[in-house]
Amino acid sequence: MSKQPIGIIGAMQVEIDTLAAALENREVEIAGGLTFIKGILDGVPVVLSVCGVGKVFAAMAAQAMILKYDVRAIINTGVAGTLTDKLSIGDLAIAENVVQHDMDTSPIGDPVGLISGLNLVRMPADGDLRARITAVLAEREIRYVVGTIASGDQFVADTEKKTYIRDTFGAIACEMEGAAIGQVCTVNQIPFAVIRAISDGGNEEATMDYPTFVKIAAAKSAEVVRAFLKAER
Ligand code: ADE
Repeated sequence: MSKQPIGIIGAMQVEIDTLAAALENREVEIAGGLTFIKGILDGVPVVLSVCGVGKVFAAMAAQAMILKYDVRAIINTGVAGTLTDKLSIGDLAIAENVVQHDMDTSPIGDPVGLISGLNLVRMPADGDLRARITAVLAEREIRYVVGTIASGDQFVADTEKKTYIRDTFGAIACEMEGAAIGQVCTVNQIPFAVIRAISDGGNEEATMDYPTFVKIAAAKSAEVVRAFLKAER
């Protein structure tokens, strides 16, 4: 097995807690103002980071993991708002690709969401990682949908906004980091995956549902990461 670690990024403590608790041979380091925890998780070398909420922190963590820890892949785990009737609270959204729904240079003629430096709206997640993750989900009979995951520096709690993101990008879930990690990984040619458990509906009820379900959803996503690592070992 490769000695190069897999990077695992969550925005919030609750998204990484259960993984950090199970880590062996742990070493904590600070780089670029963020904390990284190195160790062995379920037999696989990993680096964990609680990066903070939003695209900039997520990009910082991804780039630091690539430069400082030479990660062979990055997995983003956490929670998301659903944009589709096919995903309910507790179900899993798995990225086929990621978009930044708040990136918009359309006034100067670009498609909405274009990352002009890459000439891409959709940044593809790694197909091989995804296949191994969905195999674990299928084996455990966990409900999931594979599709576009949309990131932006906004907590979506508004039906109009939710509908805009779904209709503009055909996205299945919204969150705040995956596509920043996707952009950094695409630029650096590092495979990435985004695994998100649904905590809310991205609508007016999200302000109530999110605090109710964030912990249970975050733990479910982390559980899928561990099952993936165990299969990887
Ligand atoms: N993460 C979990 N739910 C979310 C939402 N509704 N909007 C953005 N990020 C989220």
